[in-house]
Order: sequence, then C-alpha cells, then structure tokens
Amino acid sequence: MNSDFSILRRRFLQAGAAFAAASFLPTGISRAAGVDERRLTIAPGRASLLGKDKPESDVWTYDGVVPGPLLRVRQGQPVRILVENRLDEDTTVHWHGIRLPNDMDGVPGLTQPPIRPGETFTYEFTPPDAGTFWYHPHANSLEQLGRGLAGVLIVDEIDPVAVDRDLLWVLRDWRVTLEGQIASGFGNMMEAGMSGRVGNIVTLNGAVPGDQPVRAGERVRLRLVNVSLARIMGLRFEGHDPLVVAIDGQPCEPHRPEDGRLLLGPAMRIDLMIDMTGVPGGRYRVTDDFYKGLEYELLVLAYSDEAPLRTTFPEPIALPLNPLPEPDLSAPDRHDLTLEGGMMSRMKEAGGMGRGMMQGMGGMMGMGQALWSINGTSMTGDGHADMPPLMSLARGKTHLITMRNLTAWWHPMHLHGFSFRVLTRNGAEAPYSQWADTVLMAPEDTVEVAFVADNPGDWMLHCHVTDHQMAGLMTVLRVA
Ligand code: C2O
Ligand code: CU
Ligand code: CU
Repeated sequence: MNSDFSILRRRFLQAGAAFAAASFLPTGISRAAGVDERRLTIAPGRASLLGKDKPESDVWTYDGVVPGPLLRVRQGQPVRILVENRLDEDTTVHWHGIRLPNDMDGVPGLTQPPIRPGETFTYEFTPPDAGTFWYHPHANSLEQLGRGLAGVLIVDEIDPVAVDRDLLWVLRDWRVTLEGQIASGFGNMMEAGMSGRVGNIVTLNGAVPGDQPVRAGERVRLRLVNVSLARIMGLRFEGHDPLVVAIDGQPCEPHRPEDGRLLLGPAMRIDLMIDMTGVPGGRYRVTDDFYKGLEYELLVLAYSDEAPLRTTFPEPIALPLNPLPEPDLSAPDRHDLTLEGGMMSRMKEAGGMGRGMMQGMGGMMGMGQALWSINGTSMTGDGHADMPPLMSLARGKTHLITMRNLTAWWHPMHLHGFSFRVLTRNGAEAPYSQWADTVLMAPEDTVEVAFVADNPGDWMLHCHVTDHQMAGLMTVLRVA
C-alpha cells in the first residue's frame, strides 16, 4: 500500500467513526422539500440488441427501453414512483440495495400484493444512501429479467463528487436465437443446478458494446452494474489502474482490485475512479476473463486525439460515507446459513445431485422444484408467503451471519433491505473496509457478514443467479 493510500485509508476510517452513531440520514442534511414524482410503465417493446442492421428483439421494458430509464434521484429526498403494469402477467418492482420500508420492497406475496395486469402501484421511499442501485421485478423473475426488465437507480450525493465525467455501464448478457429473439426455455433444470442461464451475447447499456470515447487526462467515475441473470464477469482494464471507490452503492476503502481484475456477479455494482492515463489516440481493451477459455474483448477505450486535459492528476478521492449503522462486534447475535445442492456437490453434505435434479434432469423446472437449499429448506419460485421465516433477528441488534457455500458453484448472495459489512472470507479478514448487499461466494467459500437489524420486516435473502433463486436458494429473514 503506497503512502497515498494510507492517508486515504486513515481519512476513510475517521469519516466512518463520525457516522458510527448516525441515524438514517446524515446529520446536517435536511430533507429536501417536496416529493420527486416519477412514472414507470412496464410493457412489451423492441430493442436492437444485436446491432444496427440486425433484426430487433422482442423484449419487456420499463418505458419502452432496455435497460429501463436511468432514475436519478437525490439522497434524502422523498421519491414517489407510479408503476403501471401493461404486461399480461403480474409483476412488482424491487429497488435493489435501497434501504427502505419493508412494504416498498417489491416482493409479491411477502411485502405487497402483485401488481396485476392493468394496475398501477405507487412506491414511496426516501433513499438514505447515495450510490449506484438498480431496480427489477421480483415476480416470474427468471423470465421477466431475462426478457429485459432491469434499470438503474442512481442516488446522487448531496455535494457533487469532483470528477470530469460520471459514466454508467449497465452490463448484461442475453440468450438470443439466430433471429435475435430471446430464447425461450426459461427454467432449464440442468442449468438451474449448475451455473444458471448464461447468455450468448453481452450488451452495454442495451447495445453491442462499441468503442468508448475518452480523453487523455480526464478522471472518470465509472459505475459498473451487472444485471445479468447468471453471468459473472471478471473485468480488466488494459493500461489503466482503476480505483474501486464503492461496492453495491456503498463507499468502500478505496483500493486497487486484486490482480487487476474486477469480479462482478449478477446484481453487483462497482464504482470506479479511473484516471485516463493513456496517450491521445490510444486504444485500450477492456476484457472479461471470468470463464476460463471464454475470454473476450468487451470493448475498447478509444482516446481522442485531443491534448490531455491534465498531465498530473489530483490525489485519489474517497466518496462521502453513507449513514449506515456500524455493527457492534463486541457481542453480536450469531447465525449460520449453509448453502447446499446443485450438481457435483460434495456427496456427504448435499447427497450429490439433489433429489429434484434426479427427477427433472434435462427437463423444465416446475414452480416449486428444489435443487438448492439454505439450512435444509428451499423456498422456490417467487417465494412463498406460507413458508415461515427461516429465522427471526432481534431488531436493533448487531447480527453476524456466517454463510457457508458447500456447493460446487458460485453464488452472489443478496440480502434485501440492508447493507452488511463483509468481515472475513475463509477465515481471513477482508482486505479493505467495505459494505455490500450482494456478496459473491466462490465454491466452498465461507464468508462472515454483519449488520445492525434496524429495519423491521420480512426480508428476502437469496442467490442472485436467478435460476438458483427460483430453484430454492432463497429464504426469508424476519427482523422484529
Ligand atoms: Cu435484486 Cu431479491 O433482488
Ligand atoms: Cu434486492
Ligand atoms: Cu447461486
């Protein structure tokens, strides 16, 4: 760690201490008067996913576009979003990563009734945290997400962050036919017991990723959001040294990614500061090498010929912290969550293939087909209102959860309604201070996370590989 970073680190930790006792809004921030009102219409539409002269694809959209419109709101300002469902089936909107009242969380049958075709539902909340969040349905998730329903919600800091540009890359893959149509066959059992529905094309902001124009000497805040059903990305920026400044919307201790590779699982967000240190006219590749042997070039950072905006860069900056309650680790309530199932799991724990897998191999997944489990229970499909919460967490207390992945697969494990601190991985202390709402677990990983259960309600916890979620890697935690 060079000296720049130790200074930054110290500042970061000091700032954190200042917030330790803060409540839901940072002190000194007054709620802006008035409600910021928006509308979202969910309806079928068309998108050119394959590129300009190629056939268009039938997709499901928010406001006719894929990804959905960028909703940009302000920290601490109340928002009201009127959502109209013009699909032929029920839906809801979940505001992924936002700490909000439970009845605004968008889980049908658990936190609200589904929005029926033709109906409008009004979501209202005041985002306490600035950062990069996103929204998506929580009904028939595999198909609704798979057909395009996902959009980004940026909550802006009260004071603008000093960068030259603020860029958003919404990354996702799709499984399309040669004619450019979304391939049917959602809920393939074999996939659901393995890596999930990984697609065959990748888009950036809904289009084939092309050259990204940049200028030498600029400092860019780049927000990466992976809204894929199942694809995990391992991104590298040739010739650049991006600084990770936020994870899942929450500022983290600024750090350079390990091995220069950014791991971005489904639902995860990373905010980077990138100083454009390349030369005018230069071309630098951004690649994804997560899946061995399937490396590809995502896009090229294409430098203009303009003279550099600057030749020496200001010191790296950290983002202002959000008012998260700091877990008290002196005497936390401890809980264990054990993930099991899927193909090729260790025989002793998981019984090899789950029983559901044997029955349904190669076929389509029926609702309620369980291939995965958390502590031996499998909530499937869109969840069950009739299934009791797996555990009840005392409100206001610090909870430390040890998650063990006994499967042979990766799982981005997501908790609704809270951001948690990632404390340790496989016994080793996390290399930098961070919060997350989705923690990526490698096969056999054990991760410890902690949070203060300050927000009452029934909250989903699930894998964000959507096939895994729907096939049982999902449960509910009650905070009361
Ligand atoms: Cu993006 Cu249940 O979550
Ligand atoms: Cu969520
Ligand atoms: Cu999973």
